Amino acid sequence: MGTANKKSIFSGVKPSGDLHLGNYLGALSQWAPLQEEYNCIFCVVDLHAITVKQDPELLNQRIIEITKHYLASGIDPAKSIIFQQSAVTAHAELAWLLNCTARIADLNKMTQFKEKAGKNQETVSVGLYDYPVLMAADILLYNTEIVPVGEDQVQHVELARELAKRFNHQFGETFIIPAAKVRKEGARIMGLDNPTKKMGKSDTASSNYIAMLDNPSMAAKKIMRAATDSEATIKYDKENKPGISNLLTIYSILFNAKIDSIEKKYAGKGYGEFKKDLAVLVENFLVDYQKRFNSYSNDDIIGLLKSHAEKVRPIAEKTLTEAKQKIGLRL
Ligand code: AMP
Ligand code: TRP
Repeated sequence: MGTANKKSIFSGVKPSGDLHLGNYLGALSQWAPLQEEYNCIFCVVDLHAITVKQDPELLNQRIIEITKHYLASGIDPAKSIIFQQSAVTAHAELAWLLNCTARIADLNKMTQFKEKAGKNQETVSVGLYDYPVLMAADILLYNTEIVPVGEDQVQHVELARELAKRFNHQFGETFIIPAAKVRKEGARIMGLDNPTKKMGKSDTASSNYIAMLDNPSMAAKKIMRAATDSEATIKYDKENKPGISNLLTIYSILFNAKIDSIEKKYAGKGYGEFKKDLAVLVENFLVDYQKRFNSYSNDDIIGLLKSHAEKVRPIAEKTLTEAKQKIGLRL
């Protein structure tokens, strides 16, 4: 852990809502394989979760739950750091410093805010609007070079790059310039009921997504019922065949198979057969995943989060102190 000559990776997921297959395929499944080659830090971004209303008791449980998802996805706490954002106060403090570098025009460009706030732009929290600046602070505190995320977060990582460059330009070299890393396929997993919209957990019917903690046989049924087109050839064509292309992507990542080899395997076969096989694969995958998820006790998780927060705090403090010095805040 923390080897000097390795590049650093940082990513995180909000402890709100059920973690779904889109989160897993787009983000978490990318993380575990990176642990050997990089210094990895994975954060449970609870300060991001409270940008919308949360029930305190539930939020507490979800912080523990997300950590279990990290472990079930193969993050090894002996190799990587897993910690809770609010346990390291430097995140909120650097966010404030970066707020004074960010411009209103930067935040007005953010499409996620527009989508989330919708017609309620005047009544949502200031935190929701400022969310990307806090995310920039998360990333920049740890000299991060690579940020593995789903496609919907790329614009936020671009903002972190922009803020880092602007700060460095104004105050001198302080931050490393990070870059997003997205999967070639799978950066945007689509809804099962409507493959033209991304899989998501809010404002959608449960037939839209597979939660990682769904009953595995129910999840298999969702695959069987997934929307597909009427031309029953198993061919990857995102434009014209978004439903089957989405299922091919899911198959390809979960079972580490190339899309063209899956197409070959099912040449001349119908959707029914392909879906049945994928449904079994998804069901078995979830059974194993949930076995791992359930093998951790809450006490283990709390202990892990606390001890790893101690490990990252000095890294964050060092960057924060340097930024404050550059600005002229430290005597
Ligand atoms: P969130 O739940 O918003 O904290 O998202 C956690 C991670 O999942 C982020 O890296 C997102 O980009 C990723 N993600 C969310 N939805 C999808 C999706 N439908 N397809 C691929 N990645 C996704
Ligand atoms: N905003 C991200 C999301 O909604 C979560 C996040 C917060 C994050 N801070 C981050 C992801 C830093 C990568 C790096 O998914």
